[in-house]
Amino acid sequence: MDAPSIRSICCIGAGYVGGPTMAVVADRCPHIQVTVVDLNAERIGAWNSADLSMLPIYEPGLDEVVGRARGRNLHFTTSVEGAIAAADMVFISVNTPTKTHGVGAGQASDLKWIEASARVLAKAATGHTIVVEKSTLPVRTAQAVKSILEAGPAGKSFSVLSNPEFLAEGTAIRDLENPDRVLIGGESREAIEALAGIYGQWVAPEKILRTNLWSSELSKLTANAFLAQRISSINSIAALCEATGADVREVANAIGADSRIGPKFLKAGPGFGGSCFQKDILNLVYLCRYYGLEDVASYWEQVVTLNSWQQHRISRLVVNRLFGTISGKRIAVLGFAFKADTNDTRESPAIQVCKDLLEEGAMLAIVDPKVREGQIAIDLGKPAGQGEANWQLLGSVEAAAEGADALVLLTEWEQFGQINWPAVVSVMRKPAWLFDSRAKADGAAARAAGLNVWTLGEG
Ligand code: UDX
Ligand code: ADP
Repeated sequence: MDAPSIRSICCIGAGYVGGPTMAVVADRCPHIQVTVVDLNAERIGAWNSADLSMLPIYEPGLDEVVGRARGRNLHFTTSVEGAIAAADMVFISVNTPTKTHGVGAGQASDLKWIEASARVLAKAATGHTIVVEKSTLPVRTAQAVKSILEAGPAGKSFSVLSNPEFLAEGTAIRDLENPDRVLIGGESREAIEALAGIYGQWVAPEKILRTNLWSSELSKLTANAFLAQRISSINSIAALCEATGADVREVANAIGADSRIGPKFLKAGPGFGGSCFQKDILNLVYLCRYYGLEDVASYWEQVVTLNSWQQHRISRLVVNRLFGTISGKRIAVLGFAFKADTNDTRESPAIQVCKDLLEEGAMLAIVDPKVREGQIAIDLGKPAGQGEANWQLLGSVEAAAEGADALVLLTEWEQFGQINWPAVVSVMRKPAWLFDSRAKADGAAARAAGLNVWTLGEG
């Protein structure tokens, strides 16, 4: 049997994965109607806003792609059931955060949004529907989705595929348009080929990998675990460099020249953030424990332990260098997003570092070109305000530096590489410090302007 031709796609979840992915599918497949649905009416409103700078997600190039396809064959709506009923293929792209309570709390993924999506699918789908898991999921989730679909009303049928997304935020459009590989796991050959046919519109055939369902699900967790492990490894070496007089960037360069190691993902920093790495490793740890593989579980758990150690290490270091106390001192925090070129703050190392500094009584002056004040308030668990042990969001490094004892650089935004050091240093209280956890600032210029400079990984 030939692969069914897909004319109408629905995607449940208009977030960081669903939104950009469907925008690129619609852009590359003008013959397919793509409808992205979400229960969050405010988010859908933002996706539909006439002003493309108001999209709910900041991604370089996203506005152009949405601008080309929206209204033509790309639609955003809260009418979940209608869009599912009309679709030949439904992507599930909802959030799967780590459980905060109950069995597996702190490790297992909370699948309640996946379950809700499967239930609405079972109810609203018509005829035969191909269901594609896009969210990162624990292994064997497809089985749970299938069971719910099969228990639904009679007269409909489903094929379930796993198609994990490997895009990184900040480069989502580039990653989607030119992926290293596309992974499709499933049992039904026709369903796999139908999805491969969509990607085949713009991805070379040899880059489309086909596996069984469980290999596909596990590959996503494993890829993220390996990537995160590289970061914890280089961060651990950064601490050793500081202690011994080596320079972690020279070490990274030297080891990265070995083609077996490779140069990518060897930047030491304040620790990894983002919605995936920690969640996926914890998922892997949970899975290993579930299958009785205690040593394997603790091996991977250590990657996360080292990551939080790194975050606390930075705040402890700031306190130590500022004579053991930062109570009542003003500290400028440069960057709050978990990395540059995104407004996403999920698991951002800045959250833990800022919480530690607030706990020590500091007054934080935060600068970030994309993160909004309301998001920082949620992340820090308190609104912006005046007075001691509080925080505020400022529009420029100069404004944040006013009267500050230190600048702590946490996100590698391009503009932090181009600071006018004499102007900044002139408004700070002396002796003044720059703590650069990303080696982004021009340390020599900052020193020349009179700052004490600490750069992560530099002995
Ligand atoms: C990651 C994976 O890269 C992607 O394939 C998967 O689909 C989702 O998770 P993302 O979290 O968006 O993507 O960003 P990524 O660029 O991987 O960075 C993750 C974190 O690691 C960031 O906090 C980043 O600052 C940090 N990082 C990355 C480093 O500290 N050093 C590096 O060398 C690379
Ligand atoms: P990700 O980074 O995985 O894309 P996000 O949290 O950015 O995660 O996006 C997930 C989106 O899925 C959210 O906008 C949320 O409102 C939406 N969502 C969750 N459950 C459902 C559901 N049952 N129906 C429709 N949308 C949902």
